[in-house]
Amino acid sequence: MPRSGDAVRVDFGSGRCYDMRFAPLAALDALLTDAGLRRGRCVVVTDGNVSGRWLGPATGALGDWDPVIIVLPAGEETKSAAALHKIYDAVLPAGIDRQTPVIALGGGVVGDLAGFAAATLLRGLPLVHVPTSLIAQVDSAIGGKVGINHAVGKNLIGTFCQPRLVCVDTAVLQTLPALEWNSGLAEVVKHALIADPTFMAFLDVAWEHILARDAPTIRRMVHWAASIKAAVVGQDEREQGRRAILNFGHTFGHAIERVAGYGAYTHGEAVALGMRAALTLSSRLHPDYCTRQVMALVKRIPVRFSLSSQGICVDALMDAMRYDKKVQRGVMRFVVLCGDGQAYVTDQVSRDDLSAAWAAAFR
Ligand code: GLY
Repeated sequence: MPRSGDAVRVDFGSGRCYDMRFAPLAALDALLTDAGLRRGRCVVVTDGNVSGRWLGPATGALGDWDPVIIVLPAGEETKSAAALHKIYDAVLPAGIDRQTPVIALGGGVVGDLAGFAAATLLRGLPLVHVPTSLIAQVDSAIGGKVGINHAVGKNLIGTFCQPRLVCVDTAVLQTLPALEWNSGLAEVVKHALIADPTFMAFLDVAWEHILARDAPTIRRMVHWAASIKAAVVGQDEREQGRRAILNFGHTFGHAIERVAGYGAYTHGEAVALGMRAALTLSSRLHPDYCTRQVMALVKRIPVRFSLSSQGICVDALMDAMRYDKKVQRGVMRFVVLCGDGQAYVTDQVSRDDLSAAWAAAFR
C-alpha cells in the first residue's frame, strides 16, 4: 500500500522520470524550483470555470514568476486547433524561451491542450500539470498523452509529452461539481480493477467516506490511484502493450458516448456503464472468475440515466465500437479481467459475448 505523504514517481528507467508532488497549491513556487525550473517568464493556461476559483491562489503562489495567463472557455470544444492557436498567439510574442514552463491549471481538457502547446512551442517547453479535477489527478495528468480533437473524432491529433512535474492539491477537489466528481470515481475504480485488489477492498470499505469527500480518505484514494497509473505508464510509455489495460471499459464507454451524443453522459458515466459490460465479457471468457463483488463496486459509481431510458439500442452500440482506436486491421480488441487486478487485451470475442456484455450495461 503506498504512503499518501510520499511523492509518486513516474519512472521510465534510464534516469527518465518525474514526480507527482502532493502539496497545497500555495507551495507551487517551491515545487517548481525543486523541479529545477528557473524563475522568470511562465505560461499559465486555464479555463473559465477553474479561473474563478483557483487562478488567484495559483498566481499568488507563483511569487516572483512572471506569468502570461490564458483563460479559455471551459468545455470539450476548447480542445481544438482554434484554442491551440490562441495559446500560440498569446505566448509567442511574450518573450518566451525554451526554459519557460507551461503550467496547465485545470482538468483533462486544459491539460491535454496546454500539454500539446508545450510540446510544440519552440519544439518543446517544460510542462507542469496542476490538475484540478479528479480525472486529471488520477489519470489524464499522468503519462504524457496530450492533444486536441478533430471533427472526425476525439483525441485524434496529439503526441506524448511527459510533464516535468505534476502538482496535486487534493483540497481543490472539495469544490468539484458532483457530476465531475462521480465521473472521476469511474477512473479510480477502473485503476483498482485492472491492477490492485487491495485498492479494491479499500474502495469498498471507504466508499461512503469517498462519496462524502472525507479529506484524508480522498487524499489516500487519489495517491493510490495515481500510483497505479504511474506504474502502468512507467512500464509502457507509448502504449505498445500493457498501457492499453488503462482502457478497461472504454471501448464500450466510447461507443456509449458516440451513440448517446457527446455530452449526454459524462466520460466517467459512460466508462462506469462500459465497465459493467467489460466485466460481463470477462466472466464469459473466464467462467471461473467470480465478478459479483467487483460488479457490485462498479454499480456503486453514480450514473444518472440507464441506457434504455436514453432510447439507446444494442445494434447501434455494436456498430459504434468499430470506431475504437484499439481496432487493428478491422479486428476489435477488448480489455478484460481474468481475476481481480489482472487485466489483459484480447481479440478473441464473439458476437454473442458482446451481446451478453451489452445486456449487462442495460441492467
Ligand atoms: N488514459 C489512458 C492512458 O493514459 O493511457
